[in-house]
Amino acid sequence: MNDTQPQTAGGKVLWHFTMSLDGFVAGPNHAMDWMTGISFRPGLVEEYVETTGAVLGGRDGWDAVVDDSRPYGGVWKGPIFVLTHHPEDATPAEGVTFLNCGPAEAVRIGLEAADGKNLEVFSPTIGRQLLELGLIDEIDLHIAPILLGEGIRLYDSPGGEPIRLDPTSAVNVRYRPAKTETIPN
Ligand SMILES: NC(=O)c1ccc[n+]([C@@H]2O[C@H](COP(=O)([O-])OP(=O)(O)OC[C@H]3O[C@@H](n4cnc5c(N)ncnc54)[C@H](OP(=O)(O)O)[C@@H]3O)[C@@H](O)[C@H]2O)c1
Repeated sequence: MNDTQPQTAGGKVLWHFTMSLDGFVAGPNHAMDWMTGISFRPGLVEEYVETTGAVLGGRDGWDAVVDDSRPYGGVWKGPIFVLTHHPEDATPAEGVTFLNCGPAEAVRIGLEAADGKNLEVFSPTIGRQLLELGLIDEIDLHIAPILLGEGIRLYDSPGGEPIRLDPTSAVNVRYRPAKTETIPN
C-alpha cells in the first residue's frame, strides 16, 4: 500500500491529524477515546516527536484536554500555543501560552518558537483560517479505520468553494467492516 514519506523538520506549518474515515478528528464533545487501539506504522509517533517544534491549538480543544495531557503521550516537550479571545479565564499550564491575536500572528509566533522544526496546527477551526490565508504548508493525515458518524470535522465550510490539493490524484483505500470489535472502549 502507498504510504507517505517520513515527516521532516523544516519550519513547515502542518495541519496534522488522525482522522476517521468519514472525516472527523474528534467525536462529539471533543471525545478522543476512539483513537485507542489504532495502530500506526512503526516509528511514526517518534517521527513527529522529533520533527515538531511547537503546537498551535484552539481554546475548545484545550478546554477539553483531560488531566493536562500533552501531545504524543507527553513524550514531546515543546511549547504549546492556544488561540483564544479570552485568555484571562484559561487554566494555565506549564509550557502553554494563550494568545489573543490573528491566526497569521499566531503562526509567526509558533514558527519562531519551533526554531526550524515544524509548527503543528491541532485545530480544524484555525487550520481553516490558515488555509484561507495560504499559511498551511502541508495537510498531514493518518486515516483511521473507523467511522464515527458525528463529531468535529477536519474541514467544514458550508457554501465555500472546493479547495484543490496537490497531488491531484485520488488515494485509494479499501476496508471491510471488522467482524469482531477490535477497538477497546
Ligand atoms: N485527531 C487528532 O489527531 C487531533 C489532534 C489534536 C486535536 N484534536 C481535536 O481537535 C479538536 C479541536 O476542535 P475545534 O477546531 O472545534 O476547536 P478549537 O480550534 O480547539 O477551538 C476553537 C476556539 O479557538 C478560539 N479561536 C479560534 N480561532 C481564533 C482566533 N483567530 N482568534 C482567537 N481565538 C480563536 C476560539 O475560542 P474562544 O472564542 O472561546 O476564545 C474558538 O471558539 C479538539 O476536539 C481536539 O481534541 C484532534
